[in-house]
Parts: sequence; C-alpha cells; structure tokens
Amino acid sequence: MTSQFQTFLTAAMRRPGVIGAVAPSSPGLADLLAAITPSTGSPTVVELGPGTGAVTAAIQRRLPATGSHVAVEIDQAMVRFLKSAHPGVEVVHGDAASLTDLGVKADAVVSGLPWALFQPARQRRILDQIAAVLRPDGAFTTFAYRHAGAMSGARSFHRLLHAVFDEVIVSHTVWRNMPASPDLRVQKAVSCAVA
Ligand SMILES: C[S@@+](CC[C@H](N)C(=O)[O-])C[C@H]1O[C@@H](n2cnc3c(N)ncnc32)[C@H](O)[C@@H]1O
Repeated sequence: MTSQFQTFLTAAMRRPGVIGAVAPSSPGLADLLAAITPSTGSPTVVELGPGTGAVTAAIQRRLPATGSHVAVEIDQAMVRFLKSAHPGVEVVHGDAASLTDLGVKADAVVSGLPWALFQPARQRRILDQIAAVLRPDGAFTTFAYRHAGAMSGARSFHRLLHAVFDEVIVSHTVWRNMPASPDLRVQKAVSCAVA
C-alpha cells in the first residue's frame, strides 16, 4: 500500500488548490483538533477534509465503540486511501458544502479544510452547513496557518467564524508540524444553540 505521505504529496501536487498543504497534520495538531470528540455515550463525529487520515486516527482513538464517525473528502485518491486505512469510518466522497445532504446530526465537527483557499461565499456556505448539522451543545474545531493570516481568505474566514458561531476560541499555536515551520493556529468554535 502507498504510504500516507506519498498519497498526500501526490494529491497535493496534482491539486494544490484543493489540498492546501504538502503533508498530513502532525500528531500534536491532530490530537488538538480531535480533542472535542466526546469519549462517552454514542456520539456522532463528522470530519471534513480528512485527507489521508492523520486527524481521523486521533478521532478514532478517542471515540467510544458505540460512537460513529463520518468523514467527507472531495479527493477520490484520498477517499480510496482512507477507506482502506480506516475501515471503521464511514468515508463519503463528497463536498463539505453539501454536508446537510447527508442527513446527519453531529456532536462534533472536526475540519481539516483549507479555508484560506475558498472564496468568502463558499466559506460562508460550509460554515452554515456545519452550524446546521451540529447539535445544540455540539462543538466545531478547525485550524488555520499562521503564515496565511494576511491572506484575504484567512481574514474573511476569521470574520465569518464570529458571524456564524456564538463563541470562538483560538488555541495556542502548534509549532511542531510539517513542513517544519512555526505557522499553525487552531481555532475552536462553539455553535450557537439551535431551537
Ligand atoms: C490541508 S488538507 C488536510 C488533510 C488532513 N485533515 C490532515 O490534517 O492531514 C485538506 C483536505 O481537505 C480536502 N478538501 C478540500 N476541499 C474540500 C471540500 N470542499 N469538501 C471535502 N474535502 C475537501 C482536501 O482534498 C484535503 O484532503
């Protein structure tokens, strides 16, 4: 089987404007993103942009056996890799912008999406979809690259997070990540209560 790094790099070179990174997230970043996964009960976790599964594995380590994990990935090669590496995860080949079509309700949504590459209207659409599938006490977590902070896509994403969610918590920077640049920041947003 092709390695996780090889699969990721090949996809990144083929579709740089979709993948948005050159390597999977580091274990430290993956654990931080997955930390909102409930570890008791029968929670449903939705993961967006799982790639080759760095964060998927961290979610799986926390998720109880009675929980379910749905991963939505737009790149077919990533989907193939993920299905074979994580047979216990429901992997959907699809677009996060059509999340509500899946008909799931989520206790947690964990995103690996390259937000800064999306136009503001697409960012808004996906954030609205996330808010719509989250249960009232659900949580959403995502990350942004520090070095991309000045890009207009990153600035609009920041504004939209505050527009869509009640509370936005920016975590400490995760310095250890590939490529070895001190450039990551994690944002955690808690959705507004839905009546
Ligand atoms: C920066 S990579 C992150 C991969 C993985 N979560 C990680 O942290 O290593 C972004 C991933 O999002 C996927 N992606 C991009 N746009 C998407 C969309 N609209 N819907 C679902 N997945 C998408 C890409 O194909 C890629 O696998």
